[in-house]
Amino acid sequence: MKRILILGGTGEAVSLAERFQALQDISVIYSLAGRTRSPNLPDCEIRQGGFGGVEGLTRYLQDNDVAAVIDATHPYAAQMAENARQAAVVTSVAHYKYLRPAWQEPEGADWIHASSAENAAEKIRDRFERVFLTSGLNDVAAFAELPEVWFLIRSIEEPATPMSLYNYSHIKARGPFKQDGERALLLEHKIDVVVSKNSGGAATQAKLHATQALSIPVIMIDRPPVMGCVVFDNQTRLIEQVRQDL
Ligand SMILES: NC(=O)c1ccc[n+]([C@@H]2O[C@H](COP(=O)([O-])OP(=O)(O)OC[C@H]3O[C@@H](n4cnc5c(N)ncnc54)[C@H](OP(=O)(O)O)[C@@H]3O)[C@@H](O)[C@H]2O)c1
Repeated sequence: MKRILILGGTGEAVSLAERFQALQDISVIYSLAGRTRSPNLPDCEIRQGGFGGVEGLTRYLQDNDVAAVIDATHPYAAQMAENARQAAVVTSVAHYKYLRPAWQEPEGADWIHASSAENAAEKIRDRFERVFLTSGLNDVAAFAELPEVWFLIRSIEEPATPMSLYNYSHIKARGPFKQDGERALLLEHKIDVVVSKNSGGAATQAKLHATQALSIPVIMIDRPPVMGCVVFDNQTRLIEQVRQDL
C-alpha cells in the first residue's frame, strides 16, 4: 500500500482524494490549513494545520513514508505550492500539481486585470463606488484605504474580527451559486464592479455570467505563476500518471 499526501482546501481536492482513496493500493492523507471551521472533508485520513514551512513538510514526508505529494490547493495558495515543490526536491518524493483550468474572458465581457489585491484596490480608486468583493477574507485588508467606497463581502465563514473597511456589508454563503441569484444580488446592492480571483471551476462562475449580462465590469486578480512542477488540469489523467509512477 502506497501513501500519498494531498494538499487540499478546495472542492476538487476533496473529490480527488476520494478517487485516490477508492483505489485498492493507495491510501490518502488529506491535509488542510485548518482555517475553515466546518470544511468539506473526504473519507480518508485527515490532518490539519501548517507543517512548519519547507523544513516541517520535509520532515513530515520522511516520517510518514509518503510516496507522492499532490498539491491540489487553491490556485492562489502560492506559499503552500512553493513549499511543496521545495520539500519534494529535498526528499525526492514524486510531486504533482492539480490546477483547475482558469476562466477565460468571454467575448463581450469587461475584465480589468489586476496583478494582486493591492493592484485591484488601485483600480477601484476614483472609478467605482459599490464593489462586490468576492476574493476572500484574507485579501480584505488590501482594500482598507478606500473611504469613499462601499463593499459587499461574501465569504464561507463569518470574519473572525471586524473588517478594516470604512463601509461594508457582509454575507455568509457557500457556493455553488446560480446566475439568477447572482444577478439579483448585483441589482439589489447596485454593484458597479465585482472583484474576483480567477479561481476557475463551476461553483462560483455564475457571478461572471451575471456581470456580463448586466454589463458590470470585473476586476480579475490574475493567478500567481506556477513554477517547476508537472501540472494537471484533469483528475483522471493525474490519477493515471500517479498510478503509473508509483
Ligand atoms: N488563497 C485562496 O484564495 C484560497 C481559496 C480557497 C481555498 N484556499 C485554501 O485555503 C488554504 C490556505 O490558503 P492560503 O492562500 O492561505 O495558502 P498559502 O498562503 O499558500 O499558505 C500559507 C501557509 O498555510 C499552510 N497551508 C496552506 N495550505 C495548507 C494545506 N493544504 N495543508 C497544510 N497547511 C497548509 C502552510 O503553512 P506551513 O508553512 O506552516 O506549512 C502555508 O505555508 C489552502 O489549503 C487553500 O487550498 C485558499
